[in-house]
Amino acid sequence: MHSKLNLYFDNAATSWPKPEPVYGAAEIYLRRMYGNPGRTGSTRTIAAERLLYRARDRLARLFNAADPSQIVFAFNATDALNMALKGLLDRGDHILYTAMEHNSVLRPLGGLKRAGLIRSTMIPCSEEGFPDLAFLERSFEPRTRLVAVNHVSNVCGAIAPLKEIVEMAHRHGAYVLVDAAQSAGVLPIDLQALPADLLAFTGHKGLLGPPGTGGLYLRSGMERQLRPWREGGTGSFSETDRQPETLPERLEAGTLNGPGLAGLIEGLDFIEQTGLAQIRKHEIALNTSLRKKLSRIPGIRLHGPAEPSRSTAVLSLTIEGIDCGELGHTLESRYGILCRTGLHCAPLAHRALGTFPEGTVRLSPGFFSRELEVDYLSGALEEIISLKARR
Ligand code: ALA
Repeated sequence: MHSKLNLYFDNAATSWPKPEPVYGAAEIYLRRMYGNPGRTGSTRTIAAERLLYRARDRLARLFNAADPSQIVFAFNATDALNMALKGLLDRGDHILYTAMEHNSVLRPLGGLKRAGLIRSTMIPCSEEGFPDLAFLERSFEPRTRLVAVNHVSNVCGAIAPLKEIVEMAHRHGAYVLVDAAQSAGVLPIDLQALPADLLAFTGHKGLLGPPGTGGLYLRSGMERQLRPWREGGTGSFSETDRQPETLPERLEAGTLNGPGLAGLIEGLDFIEQTGLAQIRKHEIALNTSLRKKLSRIPGIRLHGPAEPSRSTAVLSLTIEGIDCGELGHTLESRYGILCRTGLHCAPLAHRALGTFPEGTVRLSPGFFSRELEVDYLSGALEEIISLKARR
């Protein structure tokens, strides 16, 4: 049997659907904005340049950054995290990171460690996915340069206590790099109130834009701490073989993803018009309802925060006696429900939650998900369990 339905519960991987104008904006860019921003003075080029400025400006507004040039475009959060880690860290530095980090942080750190350049300490997290702040407090060393923290776990939605972490790190003279892959467009982020030094985000998840978009925010002055890890043409200071000193060019070499950023502006407009508070309210309501329904079904085990206000809409579960991969396949083939199963590129998070190495089934509704779909999803899981018991 193959279901013809298509119920999307994988917004933590990439959001879908996008607001309608996102699709059209990418096409319009490709058809009409054929100048390469910053490279010539033609009218098309200037139009494309303006559009890039608008994207930067909207992002700065969303995150309350003091100046749009503090936002540097990247291809996704992974790209931005690589830019930050490989640009900042020096031989002999010590880094702290939490067990909730994604491989987009763990693998660059692993490479730097294997090359003998840095040392690091992992901050353990509770079974609910929250970092042990007392452990963090006693883990700073004289050479601790950076704390890398995942704002929201992509496995279980746990929201890290960023304010406390930033305050603690600054007290110890360390910088903070926030991975906002799962929180940008989902939770309010105010970079004046929360003085994080670096923040990496992607455009294709909560910001509702196309893949291939994202960026790195740098607190004023941080550009002097970061070596560019990608160098090349910027259309400025072309006489020298040195990358320009000023942002954003210092960290943005090569032609940018214009069509993607045109789409991203529409995603950001949608968020601004809808209101982040409204988006959060809807997603918490779905999470609360899903959690309530699933916790009544014998055999289902929920992982991560018990309290919805401490999490996003992302929810992880396991079912005793049913393999996660098999469950994901049944959900799609029999019920038309799309989700993600396994380790979600975050192996240490699963160790903390007690779900390593099998992983979990992750359900991530988004702003366009409806209560009716949550009902259908919980009904499907109940049926799968009862069919299994009868066999
Ligand atoms: N990092 C994305 C996820 O969690 C792709 O699924």
